Amino acid sequence: HKRHKQGRGEGKLAVYKIIAEEGRAKRADFETVHGVVHTPVFMNVGTAAAIKGAVSTEDLERIGTQIELSNTYHLHVRPGDEVVKKMGGLHKFMSWNRPILTDSGGFQVFSLADLRKIREEGVTFRSHIDGRKIFMGPEESMQIQSNLASTIAMAFDECPSSVAERSYVEQSVSRTARWLERCKRKMEELNSREDTINKEQLLFGINQGAIYPDIRIDHAKRITEMELDGYAVGGLAVGETHEQMYDILDQVVPYLPKDKPTYLMGVGTPANILEAVDRGVDFFDCVYPSRNGRHGHVYTRHGHLNLFNAQYELDQRPIEEGCQCPTCRRYSRGYIRHLLKAKEMLGMRLCVQHNLYFYNHLMEDIRNAIEQGRYAEFKRQTLDSMAENDG
Ligand code: GUN
Ligand code: ZN
Repeated sequence: HKRHKQGRGEGKLAVYKIIAEEGRAKRADFETVHGVVHTPVFMNVGTAAAIKGAVSTEDLERIGTQIELSNTYHLHVRPGDEVVKKMGGLHKFMSWNRPILTDSGGFQVFSLADLRKIREEGVTFRSHIDGRKIFMGPEESMQIQSNLASTIAMAFDECPSSVAERSYVEQSVSRTARWLERCKRKMEELNSREDTINKEQLLFGINQGAIYPDIRIDHAKRITEMELDGYAVGGLAVGETHEQMYDILDQVVPYLPKDKPTYLMGVGTPANILEAVDRGVDFFDCVYPSRNGRHGHVYTRHGHLNLFNAQYELDQRPIEEGCQCPTCRRYSRGYIRHLLKAKEMLGMRLCVQHNLYFYNHLMEDIRNAIEQGRYAEFKRQTLDSMAENDG
């Protein structure tokens, strides 16, 4: 499948080519209008069109990242998607010319906004910024993402709580499936409009169903029939145990198309990523590297460190010996600890840069290991080594 057929006989670029496999682990190249993404990949979270911790798009390039993720809900509230459109779309606005994925707003509405009401049409809520009443349904979410002109738009979904009752999850998931039909129709219409910035915008569907495997499998089968450009597993890492999450992936991923990108939303720790790759997932995003970095919590292959800890006061070593990130090439743990304690912004920035480098380069090592048929061994060694100081 080269160019996916679209509304009016037009096509869009979405070529997913599997380069290597080991068990269920996939090493693939995904070609989009904004360039190729080598998977498994970590998407760097820039919720409001900025990586928190004062990391610029230039920094992202230097660190060697492939793809950035922003949020429909935040950008709709501020500065407004119409403003971003007038500024030429998100790529131009942020000065980032590689792929961008936008989340649909569904999840953020449920987690952040003062939630009003969910109906068949969509969700009415109050903005967490100014209290303004906003309505968002599948069509609104697609319109906003089209204005933002991201490479990949996510379907508008509801993420039911992992402890929600079965009857609630059943009706929520069937509504999310109906919303997906509306998303697809709206996206086709928007992509055929003359004034649309990215007429090749891709649409990924999102599997839901909380921790009920049968609901998730039925839903996965239904959305697979819709021939979308990629498929996400949502509604995980929201309170269930890691074992429950791995169990859901074991059961559900086989029902999603292997020849399309498989995205596990909002996940996770390095260990979560290593386990999910083994279960066929190849796209990830998570706030951990940037959020933890802002708190002086940094990752290494031998477990994490908290640089606020007194033991680093006179430590002249870099965060991680041998790390080639812009932080470790120049600065010591002791210096960064001082910056953090003095609340200098540079402290946060150096930690976030290291953590993003760590995540992105872990993915590179994962890709190489799958290509060389040694992923099982790599996963075991990396998990053992990271657990050394983490208990
Ligand atoms: N981010 C993390 N989980 C989810 C989810 O279930 N849905 C959406 N839209 N975004 C997410
Ligand atoms: Zn480093």
